[in-house]
Parts: sequence; C-alpha cells; structure tokens
Amino acid sequence: MTRQASHRPGRNGLWRVLAPLLAFGLSGSVWAAQPVAPAADDIATGAKLAEKHCAACHGATGQGATIDFASLAGQNEMYIAKQLREFASGERDSTVMDSKASILSECSIRAVAKFYQSQVPKVSPSKDQMLANAGQFVYERGNPYAGLPACVSCHGTGGRGNAELPRLAGQNPRYMERQLKNYATRTRAGDSAAVMTMVASRMTEMEMKAVVEYLGAMK
Ligand code: HEC
Ligand code: HEC
Repeated sequence: MTRQASHRPGRNGLWRVLAPLLAFGLSGSVWAAQPVAPAADDIATGAKLAEKHCAACHGATGQGATIDFASLAGQNEMYIAKQLREFASGERDSTVMDSKASILSECSIRAVAKFYQSQVPKVSPSKDQMLANAGQFVYERGNPYAGLPACVSCHGTGGRGNAELPRLAGQNPRYMERQLKNYATRTRAGDSAAVMTMVASRMTEMEMKAVVEYLGAMK
C-alpha cells in the first residue's frame, strides 16, 4: 500500500489542532452536558427495537452476530445515533444499514442507542501477541516516521472514545480493518473534517492489522 502522506505536506500541522479539539473539547462541553443516568424506559424501548430490527446481525446484546459485524455493546450513544442518522440520510453508505436506519424515528434512534450503550462490550482475545504489541505502538505513538498520528490522542486511553468519537476497545477486528480501508479509499463518508480519511490513508496494511488486533483484545 502506498503512503499518501508524503503527497500532502501541508496537512501535518492539522493534527496538533484537531486532536486536542476532538478529544478534549468535546468531552469538556457536549459530553459533560449529557444526563448521567439514561431513562430506564428508553432502554426498555430500545431493547425491543433492537430485538426486532437489529439482533440478527448485531446480536441480541450488541456484541455482533459474527466477527464481521460491528459490535454496538458499550458503544457511545451519541456516536451510534450520529451513524444511524447518517445511514438514513445516505451520507454514510451501506446497502444494508441505509434501509434499516431509515425506518427509525428520532425517538427510536435515541432509544436504541441508549440500549446498546448500556450493554457489556466484548473482547476478542489476540491470537498473535507479537502483532498486538506492534498495534499497541501504533495506538499509543502512531508512526512518527510517516506522519501517522497516535490514535490515543483522539480515541483516548483505554479506547473509550467520547460523545462523538467511537469506542474502539473490544470492537470486532475484521469490522475495524474494513472501516479503515473504507476511510482510506473514501468509501466511508460522514467523517467530519475527514480526520479518519487522513489517518487511514497514512497507514500500511500491517499497521491496520496490528492496531485492530490490539484493540479487539482491549477491555
Ligand atoms: C442485515 C444485517 C444488519 C441489521 C439487521 C442491522 N445492521 Fe447495523 N450494520 C450492519 C452492517 C453490515 C454494518 C457495517 C456497515 C458498514 O460497513 O459501514 C452495520 C453498522 C452499524 C452501525 C455503525 C457501527 C459503527 O461502529 O460505526 C450502527 C450504529 C448500526 N449498524 C446499528 C444498527 C441498528 C440500531 C440496527 C437495528 C435498527 C441495525 N444496525 C440492524 C448490518 C446490520
Ligand atoms: C484527530 C482525531 C483522530 C485520530 C488521531 C484517530 N481517530 Fe479514529 N476516529 C476519529 C473520529 C472523529 C471518528 C468518527 C468518524 C465518523 O463519524 O465516521 C473515528 C472513527 C474511527 C473508526 C471507526 C469506528 C467504527 O466504529 O466504525 C476506527 C476503526 C478508527 N477511528 C480507528 C483509528 C485508529 C486505528 C487510529 C490511529 C491510527 C485513529 N482512529 C486515529 C478521530 C480520530
């Protein structure tokens, strides 16, 4: 895989502006303003919707029916809701999800997002510890020799993300690898400021495989 980083010199400085803004700016304002305890009835409504419309692929408690599907358990509710709105509007393109999301009202979107956030995320134990170790380096330090920023600067210690940033800890590795490739090839849109497009287009195949191996096993 070629590195496009070298062809885009002017963009290096952007990380220093974007990373703290996304990681800390949002957590300090939007996220802190959210109510702490979600309403129990929202979760119950969300559970019913999930069972009927989502469980076949994402699993009854959101861990993903197979390793190909996104795990939604423990995913940040505002991020889930944002993705659902983007599937519904067609901004994020997915033949399957665009039709699933467009049947949900705004209330249903919030309920189902609250339900999934309340579920326990899964862990995919690493099958290749050496690869996972390389992934930890990428997560914590990026690749300083190729202008790849450290994932931790936005997704946070422990891979928890925040209101607008997805949780990556325990996400299905195969799903994450596919998303990184989608960002790199600009097949996945809805990524405001194209942050992940820039990140992913600077990654080698090995860096992608290593970092998802590490993150899948993160609790
Ligand atoms: C037939 C299978 C199927 C069903 C049913 C389904 N999904 Fe999905 N879902 C997918 C696939 C496949 C993707 C990955 C799309 C992509 O590659 O961008 C996905 C992605 C998502 C994502 C994005 C996850 C992320 O981390 O960005 C969310 C959120 C989501 N689905 C929620 C739901 C909800 C809520 C329902 C029920 C209303 C549902 N899905 C029903 C297959 C399904
Ligand atoms: C400057 C901030 C920033 C940095 C650095 C960053 N990310 Fe992201 N990442 C984001 C944002 C914002 C999104 C959500 C974009 C969207 O809505 O599509 C995201 C989304 C993702 C997703 C999609 C998750 C899902 O559930 O579909 C993956 C996978 C991901 N990032 C992995 C990484 C990896 C691996 C690195 C390090 C090599 C990294 N990110 C570095 C901000 C960042």
